[in-house]
This record gives sequence, C-alpha cells and structure tokens, in this order.
Amino acid sequence: MRGRLLCPADDGRSVAVIDDGLLEIGPRGRITAVGPAPADCPLAETRPGAVWLPAFVDTHIHFPQTRVLGSATGPLLDWLQRSVFPEEARFVERAYAEAVADEFCAALVAAGTTTAAIYSASDPGATDALFAALDRWGLRARAGLTLMDRGAPPVLCVPAERALPAAEALVERWHGHDDRLFFCVTPRFALSCTPKLLAGAAALAERHDLWIQTHISENRAEIEATRAAFPAHADYLAVYADHGLAGARTLLAHCIHLDDGGWDRLAEHGCAVAHCPDSNFFLGSGQMSLAAAVKRRLRVGLGTDVGAGRSFSVPRIAAAAYDTARLLDDTQSAEALLWHATAGGARAMGLDDRIGRLAVGLDADLVAIDLPAHMKERAPERGALFDALLFRHDAGPVGAVYVRGRVPASGRSA
Ligand code: GUN
Ligand code: ZN
Repeated sequence: MRGRLLCPADDGRSVAVIDDGLLEIGPRGRITAVGPAPADCPLAETRPGAVWLPAFVDTHIHFPQTRVLGSATGPLLDWLQRSVFPEEARFVERAYAEAVADEFCAALVAAGTTTAAIYSASDPGATDALFAALDRWGLRARAGLTLMDRGAPPVLCVPAERALPAAEALVERWHGHDDRLFFCVTPRFALSCTPKLLAGAAALAERHDLWIQTHISENRAEIEATRAAFPAHADYLAVYADHGLAGARTLLAHCIHLDDGGWDRLAEHGCAVAHCPDSNFFLGSGQMSLAAAVKRRLRVGLGTDVGAGRSFSVPRIAAAAYDTARLLDDTQSAEALLWHATAGGARAMGLDDRIGRLAVGLDADLVAIDLPAHMKERAPERGALFDALLFRHDAGPVGAVYVRGRVPASGRSA
C-alpha cells in the first residue's frame, strides 16, 4: 500500500503520520516493511485521498443486540428487561442466529472494525453460529457464550451444569482457531449469575487459560442491586475478585461509578477496561473517567456496546469519549483517542503482539478512510487531520478494510 499512513506508537497516546508512506505485506498477511516511500517508488498511491491506519478494535459489543440497536427504553435494568432479553431469547433458533451473525459481521466490516470482544447470547448454538460467521468473514475476536442463570426470562437462563460443559465444547471447537478466534469467558454481570456460576466461570478460565469479560459499575440501581445480591462482598469489584474473575486477563466494561479507591483496586488487579461512552450517554448511565484509568496505566480500549451504543463505528465512540472527557473537565485529544481506538484496543484485548499498529511483524489488519474533498486537495496539518477523522460524523467513510492483507467477505457462495 502506498499513501498517507497513520502509525499509532507504543507509548500509550501518540500517532505518527507518514505523508507518503509505503507499507509492504508478506505472503502470510504480515507487515514486512513500513516507512516513507522512496523517491523512485514505482507504486502509485493505492487509494488517492485516503489515510491508512490499523483497523479499529471494538473492545465491547453484543452480537445478539444487532437488531435492537437504538432501543430507547433505558435506563439499564429496564432496557435489559424490555428490549434486550426478549430479543436475545430469539437466538435459541439457530437459523435466526445465523442470519443475525452475518448482519453483525457485515456491520463490523462496514465500520472498519476487524477485531472485537463479543458477547454472544446464552444459547450455545447461537454462539457456535457467531464463531462460524466470524470465521467465514475472516474477522478476529475474543467471543463468549453469555453466562446467565438468573434475573432473566427462563429461556435465557442456563444453569451452570449445562452452560459450563457447553462452553467447554465451544472452547474445544473454536479457541485459537486460525490464530484469530478465541473463546472468552463471559459472565454477563454479577446480577445475572449465581455464585456457583461465577465460580464455575473462573475455573473454566483457569483450566484453559482464557480471557474473561464482564460489566461493572455501570448504573447506580445496578450497583445497589448487586450490593443486595452479594452482601458478603465488599463491593462490586470484590464480587468478581472474590470469585477469581479479576486479573490481568479480565476486560471490564463501563467502570463508571468508581471513586479513587475503586480505581486503585482495579489497577492492583491489573484488569483492562472497555470504555463505552456512547452507551453511557444513551442509557444515561454516567461518565467514565478515561483520565483516571490512564493515570493508573490501565489498558483501555473503546467499546461500541451495541445495542446500548448506537453505532458500530469506533471513531464515533471516540467522539463520544471526547464529549465525556469535556463533561468531566478533562481534555482528550483526537490523536490520543485514535490511539485508544486502535493500539489501545489491541492492548486491552491482549492482542498487541499481532494487531493495532503499523509495525513490522504485526498482521496487516488495515482500514483506509477517505478524507473530505477539500483535504484531498491540500494536506491538512496533523491536528486537523485527526479531528476530521473523529469529529466529522458525516465525512470520512471507511473506504477499504483488510485482515492479514485480505478483504474480509461473507464467504458465502453467491
Ligand atoms: N449489563 C448486563 N448486561 C448488559 C448489556 O447487555 N448491556 C449493557 N450495556 N450492560 C449490561
Ligand atoms: Zn455491554
């Protein structure tokens, strides 16, 4: 590829710009060289007027909420009962799950996202359909059967005796597949799991060296209900920690209502954070302090949290992260947010040795974004370029997407 390259650094915040860059991709889809194009470069600009950057990483998204994205029935606990649980119940039907899995993968690709941390439904067949679709599309994921055995309609509640063996079978079938797909232990949140299921989830993760993802401290009523349901534990984080679910391979979404002590303890456990600011606005959950996480050197990625988030677009979520920071009297630059949308997400998912930067040895998971017309004529300065990529919602559509140097496609024959 030849063109303007945006290269997230390894420093937690900056993105270098190479105005006329050359990126070489080897036969196995790895980046084999990256740098300024030589003066006598025979290759023409690959996509005139576009910028190239690592494909986006979505660190928190719910596959079975694809069709209820944008349902305005919040706050959280009401929204789950009214909009989410009735929809997720449909996923016991394999054909329905397969159809939505294809829509879901198409939406990820259209948004320039090639890697995601995904919650499936509680149905094992639906989760198998999700993995099969991700495989066909050539996408990359940590994805899990959503574990829940209480607090929802019976069709969604799967007891530990059934859920854990089903999860084992999915690990057997999909974990490590093509070095792209990984099973992730996914207790929905404390309120939807009995202590027995939480303990079983931790044992499953331990047995197979798996990542864990869940929600924490999203909504005040949820936090209060969690306190009532788990009176023996010091607080929300302690519920997870005491069950063996809080460690360096745990990805926690939301983290809104944490005081300094709560953030300190989260940092002591070394958990990674999925920041989901658009969802937090839509459900009126509150604002997470990105500065509090960054100050403690936590790994932070951005999450659309579809369907509480209203878009599959990670840049759009980065814009919401900017708005959130402003409300908290903090400022996050577009450059730093772009870093979190790519390299930061890869780091938060433990995949930074494969993706997230344009660096030799990493896989060529790329996105090309077309600049607004006036910027094609005259190159914008750095700040204006980053701002245009994140804050002009009507501009800069995703022009091309690659995983390991190949264009992802449904894999279905026409
Ligand atoms: N907490 C438990 N389940 C969910 C969910 O599906 N979405 C969000 N945003 N929070 C949750
Ligand atoms: Zn969520």
